Amino acid sequence: MEPSADLHPRVLVLGSGGMLGRDLLRRFRDSGIPVLGLGSGECDITRRDRVAACVESRPWGAVINCAAYTAVDRAEAEPGAAFRVNRDGAAHVAEACRRENVPLIHLSTDYVFDGQSRVPYREEDPARPVSVYGRSKWEGEEAVRDRSGKHLVVRTAWLYAAHGQNFVTSVLHLARRRKELRVVDDQFGCPTWTEDLAEGLVSMVRKVLESPKGVPWGTYHLCGGGFTSRHAFARAIVEEGYRREHLVVGRILPVPTDHYPTAARRPPWAVLDCQKANNAFGIALPPWQTGLARMMEELYTPTA
Ligand SMILES: NC(=O)c1ccc[n+]([C@@H]2O[C@H](COP(=O)([O-])OP(=O)(O)OC[C@H]3O[C@@H](n4cnc5c(N)ncnc54)[C@H](OP(=O)(O)O)[C@@H]3O)[C@@H](O)[C@H]2O)c1
Repeated sequence: MEPSADLHPRVLVLGSGGMLGRDLLRRFRDSGIPVLGLGSGECDITRRDRVAACVESRPWGAVINCAAYTAVDRAEAEPGAAFRVNRDGAAHVAEACRRENVPLIHLSTDYVFDGQSRVPYREEDPARPVSVYGRSKWEGEEAVRDRSGKHLVVRTAWLYAAHGQNFVTSVLHLARRRKELRVVDDQFGCPTWTEDLAEGLVSMVRKVLESPKGVPWGTYHLCGGGFTSRHAFARAIVEEGYRREHLVVGRILPVPTDHYPTAARRPPWAVLDCQKANNAFGIALPPWQTGLARMMEELYTPTA
């Protein structure tokens, strides 16, 4: 990917070719904050020297690390690769940011929790990841907290976008081809549209740039409002889809997780309490249903 640059970028986004990274670049541009996005080809975060060179290259106002190994099931078979990116890569970014005294915003996940709670997880609740991916992301968070001075660790969940492959685009793909879908109904979480998250992150960065002394550094949860099951989410996606195109699917059957075995275990109840981000930054993402409806508008709007 070509480096994506404004003339005098103030914010560096690592992992900018991914689902969140792409929308984040767009949001920064819309908001008038000049940004540089680097993909894995330009800045491989597993290479300490490359990360140092990228972070030292300008007096950044903030660095956002969206780079991650996100193949949750594949990680079970290749833990080394997951830890190299999610733990060691995060450590390289945090070290470079501390050396240059640059604030770091690092993305993490609801999968740091085991999902046994029945009240929404708060930031200080104990992490007990149940998968390689979850453990690698947790250790990445810890590396950032240990190494980086000014940092915001932002945990999010169940991301989807109009572009790329994700739960929403996969459900629509299947709904065009199959009469019946089976979707687990015992996993709960907070679906989050990447555009909504990107807007929240831009608000955080604006505060970092404009009044860094007043920033309450630390760990925050930021995801779509409310929560739902995978099954109810799939139903909502198909209902939105029906309004816009002919879908073949007629039934969406709820199934328990053990009918649909995957290599990695998922937390059954990964619901995040986002009140802290609201109190500290005045940020609350729209309810997940609103995010989904707006994302579907975008998906079905022909681009010029
Ligand atoms: N997706 C979700 O549902 C979800 C949920 C909770 C939290 N999160 C977190 O949110 C963040 C963004 O996720 P996402 O869904 O946007 O992920 P994504 O679409 O998989 O994008 C991740 C990006 O990281 C890049 N990357 C991978 N290895 C790299 C390396 N060694 N050096 C530099 N870049 C590297 C990838 O580039 P290449 O494609 O070139 O390899 C890709 O562009 C991640 O921290 C993720 O853990 C995601």
